[in-house]
Parts: sequence; structure tokens; C-alpha cells
Amino acid sequence: MQTYFQSLNYTMANEDTTLEYKLAATLGAKNILTVGGSGSRALPFLALPLNQLRIVDISADQILLIKFKLETIRQLSHADTLTFWTSSEAPQRAMILKKMNLEDNLKAFYQYHSRNNPQSAPLYWGKWEKTFQTFSKITQFLFPNKIREGLFSTSNPYGYYEKHIKGFRWNLLLKIVGNKAMFNSLLYKGSFIIKNSPLSYFDFYSQAFDRLFRLDIQRSHFLQLCFCGKVLQNEALPIEFHPDIFEKIKASKVNPIYQQGSIFERVEDTQYDLISLSDVPSYLSGSLEQNYIQILAKNVALSGIVVNRFYLRSSENTNLSGFQEITNDHKLIIEEELVQMYDVQLLKKV
Ligand SMILES: C[S@@+](CC[C@H](N)C(=O)[O-])C[C@H]1O[C@@H](n2cnc3c(N)ncnc32)[C@H](O)[C@@H]1O
Repeated sequence: MQTYFQSLNYTMANEDTTLEYKLAATLGAKNILTVGGSGSRALPFLALPLNQLRIVDISADQILLIKFKLETIRQLSHADTLTFWTSSEAPQRAMILKKMNLEDNLKAFYQYHSRNNPQSAPLYWGKWEKTFQTFSKITQFLFPNKIREGLFSTSNPYGYYEKHIKGFRWNLLLKIVGNKAMFNSLLYKGSFIIKNSPLSYFDFYSQAFDRLFRLDIQRSHFLQLCFCGKVLQNEALPIEFHPDIFEKIKASKVNPIYQQGSIFERVEDTQYDLISLSDVPSYLSGSLEQNYIQILAKNVALSGIVVNRFYLRSSENTNLSGFQEITNDHKLIIEEELVQMYDVQLLKKV
């Protein structure tokens, strides 16, 4: 895990965090603790009437990215923010950047990654986003003329997928790309999850995509990244870029508390109403995998929720005492999630 999570791995999002955002809104959460990632799982919470948002990530670069993203939202108009994150033209971004007042470390962060990614928009600078851009080259090769003109133009994408995509080529693609060896060589450098899902890799990905094609793919940044190498329209961008959420984040007076390190090693006494762990628990093993919920428990308010997203591995032998699983109470929000690669688990402190 350590090797993989040490640089800029995520810049857009590998999840649709509408799920956690809606949960927090429904529960009226006031104090939230979240893993950082691309910021897409953390910043939308600022659109809610919070007391405290604590953002923890073991990667210094992910924290800088989140701070930088929040400054763009706070200091720029919606139009400039969208142009900035989606433009591959460095001079165009430099013009917009001139409107901002940034601390030196954020300027240096931006300039370093901009130089290293001369052809690409900041939204796609993460290693995870680059991996799926590579995947999109294969999908476009295997399904020429079937993607923008077909899949993303039809009023019945599931029907289109069944007729033109599902089948021998699609299965071959999932078999070649969707496995541990490929993900380790492309992205995880040996730190890929130790799977315990009862499904084979092929069945896991095949079923996940099948669910995804049934949803509103015009709003799925993930499906568009897989098939087109980029987000096709603004409505598919991660939710911090949606106009209503964007304006509420901008108006928020809450300054997030940032913390570099493991979310399981914090010492402080806040009682959180919601703890959003992303798929971090899928990377755990041994005694931490067994005890992480109890480690967090003292910082969870009564009736507070812990949100897990298991990816290929659900936590094994984890001590859940003091918590009740309430996943089924929020089935609808989970089914609407627009990446569909996760088994969501919601635990409520009782
Ligand atoms: C598992 S990744 C998923 C990324 C997230 N879904 C997104 O799109 O932003 C989540 C983030 O967790 C961070 N991370 C991994 N293990 C962690 C830990 N024990 N404590 C805090 N952050 C951790 C990684 O650096 C990464 O930025």
C-alpha cells in the first residue's frame, strides 16, 4: 500500500461521491472526517452546513491537490474553474491563474505538475486517470465509430451496449485488462488489493459495467473516461463542479483541517457524525483490518455513520461491535452511484 499511495494518484475521482454527499445531507452531519483522495470525496461536504471537516491523506501531494482545488473554487468563477481544470492548454490556464492569489507551495505544486503534464488538463494528471485514458485507447480501437456517435448519442445506452459492445471483444478486453497483473503493472506497482470477492475478476468487472450501462451514462465521468479518455460534458464532472454545489462550497465559511498521515492513527477528541473511508479498508490486512472500526469508534458520535466502499476485498474478521449495518436503508442512493465498482457498507454507531 505504501508504495502506491505516495504521489499524485487521483486528480478527478474514481468514485461518484454523490453517495456520501447525499448521505451526509440526509443525516444532517455537522462534523465529518474523510479520506482526501482527489478532493472530490471531501470538498462537496463544504456545500453542507458543517461545523468541521477534517481531511486526512497519507499522500502530501493529494493534500496539496485538494487545497489547490478548493482555492480555484473559492477564487475563480464557475466558468473559469471549469476551464482551468479541463483545459489542456497551459497558456490558457496561466491566464486564469493570474486571477488567483496563491501560497508559494500551491503555486510550486501546480507548476511542477503542469510541466510534467504538458499535453494534459489537470483533471487527468493523476496516475489513475491516466490508466483509464490508456484503457479508452483500447476501447476506441476495439469499437471504432461506436462510442461518441453510438453509445453516448443514443437514448437507449443499455440497448446499444447489449447490441454493439457486449460480446467477444468486450469480454476479451475485460479479461486482458481486468486482472491483478495488469493493474499492478499499469498503476499499483505491486500494491494491488488482495482480492477476497467470491467473483472472478472477469465476473466482477463484467457485472459492474453491466450495472453501470443501465444508469444515466451521460452523467458518469468514469464511463466517459473509459470510453472517450475524457469527460464529455460538464454534467458528468465530479460533483464539486456542479453549479449548485460549487456555489455552496464557495460560500462556505468552514476551513477544512488537513492532516497528512493514516486516518487510523489520529489522536483528537472530535465526535464525527460521518466518517468517509473510501476504499481504504480494502487495502488493509492483519490486525488493522480486524480493528480499524474499533480504532475509529471513539471518534464516532452516537448514531454516526462510517462509510466503506469495498473494492474487490471486503474487510475480513473486522470487529464491528457497537455498530449496526444499515446499508440496506440507503439502497437507492447506492444503486444510483455512477462508478459501480464498489460494495458499499454503511455502519451506524449504536
Ligand atoms: C483508496 S484512494 C481512492 C481515491 C478516491 N476515491 C478519490 O477519487 O479521490 C483514497 C485515498 O486514500 C489515501 N489513503 C490510502 N490509505 C490511507 C490511510 N490509511 N489514511 C489516509 N489516507 C489514505 C490515498 O493516498 C488516496 O489519496
